[in-house]
Amino acid sequence: MRKLIIANWKLNPKALAEAERLVRTLASAARASKGEVVFCPPAAYLAELKSGFPKLAFGAQDASYVDEGPYTGAVGPSVLKSVGAEYVIAGHSERRANFGETDAIVVKKIKAILSAGLTAILCVGEPLTVRNKGIAASQKFVAQQLKDSLKNIPRTTKLVVAYEPVWAISTSGSGKSETPEDAAAMIRFIKKLRPGRVLYGGSVNSKNAKDFLAYRDIDGLLVGGASLKSEEFRAILRYA
Ligand code: PGA
Repeated sequence: MRKLIIANWKLNPKALAEAERLVRTLASAARASKGEVVFCPPAAYLAELKSGFPKLAFGAQDASYVDEGPYTGAVGPSVLKSVGAEYVIAGHSERRANFGETDAIVVKKIKAILSAGLTAILCVGEPLTVRNKGIAASQKFVAQQLKDSLKNIPRTTKLVVAYEPVWAISTSGSGKSETPEDAAAMIRFIKKLRPGRVLYGGSVNSKNAKDFLAYRDIDGLLVGGASLKSEEFRAILRYA
């Protein structure tokens, strides 16, 4: 299967014109990549980027769990779909930590995303306090999170899981990053619980992407910081 490479731009860049510039510098590498590349810019840019680059695939970083009605400020999955999103990330650790998203909320979001006919990308991953207790503790944490974030969602439902150890996110420079070997082991563990595509995310860059992608079990990458740097991201796309 083709490797799935998700560019998670988070809350960057601060203006549409910059986002257009960035996609323009990455478009041909994305089209030439053997992997399947999905850009997840801030939601407000989706419509414009999709119409400017109709051949590229786009996704959203989040969606509300309500899809229509009197919910001021909410952006539902159907709205995102209508402006070109095919994927929606749910339960990213930054949403969980900064916006109080619980597993119960994540379940509702995933259901709404699936009902709208979009592909959900569920993020799971252990915090440092858990990882410090070892691999077994980390597996236990991830298994529970997977179970609680997918409660009542049939095991056979098609979705993507991204394993993102929280302590390995945005660490550029600090030297803290998951080894491809440990990432692959956790991904094998996740696949036993939940068959489907499982990605790795957390400080992926042009130097380590190749090593993660070399593992057959790692179905792709969720790339944050490095997806905003065109040279870096182009290099990652070449390895896919
Ligand atoms: P990072 O982010 O690549 O900047 O660590 C990954 C993510 O949070 O999805």
